[in-house]
Amino acid sequence: MTLTLISIGLTDHNDMSRRALQAARGCDTLYAELYTMILDTDPRSLSEAIGKPVQELPRGRLEEDSPPLIEEARHANIGILVGGDALTATTHISLLLEAAKKGVKTRVIHGSSILTAVAETGLSPYKFGRTVTLPLPGKAPPDTVLATLRENREHGLHTLVLLDLDIVNREAHTINRAIRILLDADQPESYNGDTLTVGVARLGWEDQEIKADSAENLAGHDLGDPPHVLIVPGRLHFHETEALRTLAGCPDEALEGHEPVGELDTLIEKYSAGCRRVIEGLDVRDLPKSVTLEDVKALTGHVANYLDDGEYYQAERKATALASVSYAEGILDALRLLGLVEFEW
Ligand SMILES: C[S@@+](CC[C@H](N)C(=O)[O-])C[C@H]1O[C@@H](n2cnc3c(N)ncnc32)[C@H](O)[C@@H]1O
Repeated sequence: MTLTLISIGLTDHNDMSRRALQAARGCDTLYAELYTMILDTDPRSLSEAIGKPVQELPRGRLEEDSPPLIEEARHANIGILVGGDALTATTHISLLLEAAKKGVKTRVIHGSSILTAVAETGLSPYKFGRTVTLPLPGKAPPDTVLATLRENREHGLHTLVLLDLDIVNREAHTINRAIRILLDADQPESYNGDTLTVGVARLGWEDQEIKADSAENLAGHDLGDPPHVLIVPGRLHFHETEALRTLAGCPDEALEGHEPVGELDTLIEKYSAGCRRVIEGLDVRDLPKSVTLEDVKALTGHVANYLDDGEYYQAERKATALASVSYAEGILDALRLLGLVEFEW
């Protein structure tokens, strides 16, 4: 007997593959987990499409209280229908793990997911960094989202921000509210009114909407009912820029200002520019007998070499680049503290 996780897909029962329908029809009992995602379907429509009764699972049955389901699968073929791709919600892999530990056979039928469908924006699915969820107000502050935006930007990667929902209380974030929450957090280095943002609403549904603009402009744009996600692009390939313009109606002004620079790049460039300015106008003071002008020149030569190393490593190895420019800064500071040169940062 088998416990089968069956993906419904992104939209409704019509997204189920033939394999998903066959697997569902082969089950003795079918459950539907419909609380991690908003779908344009319900247990009755699923049941009609499959031709078998479908019972909706309350949240606890899968999370805290899963063993009875696993025990049931010891004696019968049990199918659990899940929105999107079955394994993109973190809870479901735990169920497979627990079943495997108890010697119960499992199977997964894969399906379409928001995680890959966002490629319709034109942003390459290979260039997304860590995905993050913006919690509903009152649950948690948006700190993790802002930290993830910074982290992904550091590597030039796009960030997919899923928007929390509470199916039981019929509450779901919208793009407008999500943007406002991120702007109100007042961390402009992570997210500000000029940040290029893509709003995606009801992707895969008949009335889907995709719109890209600056955060400030997009916050005033109504994209209709949830489900919504938000994407903050990282570095753009020119094909991606073209796609945002054409497929997501992005105005040129929002694209022109888009130059995502990470924290490490900012520091490397700031230290490097400061050191170069200092060595160009360096004022060598009266030197003690033990130090010659050649000694000072040799050290400033090292500074220049470290700065060159910083530039060389900046694209691929930012930590090494920052260490190099920090050495350069350190040598100049040491020369000044010894009273051998005079300058101001
Ligand atoms: C926890 S994720 C579940 C992902 C799902 N298992 C999948 O594979 O697509 C649910 C979140 O994904 C986003 N989402 C799901 N379907 C969407 C759609 N069709 N259009 C836009 N956003 C969607 C919403 O932010 C929603 O709150």
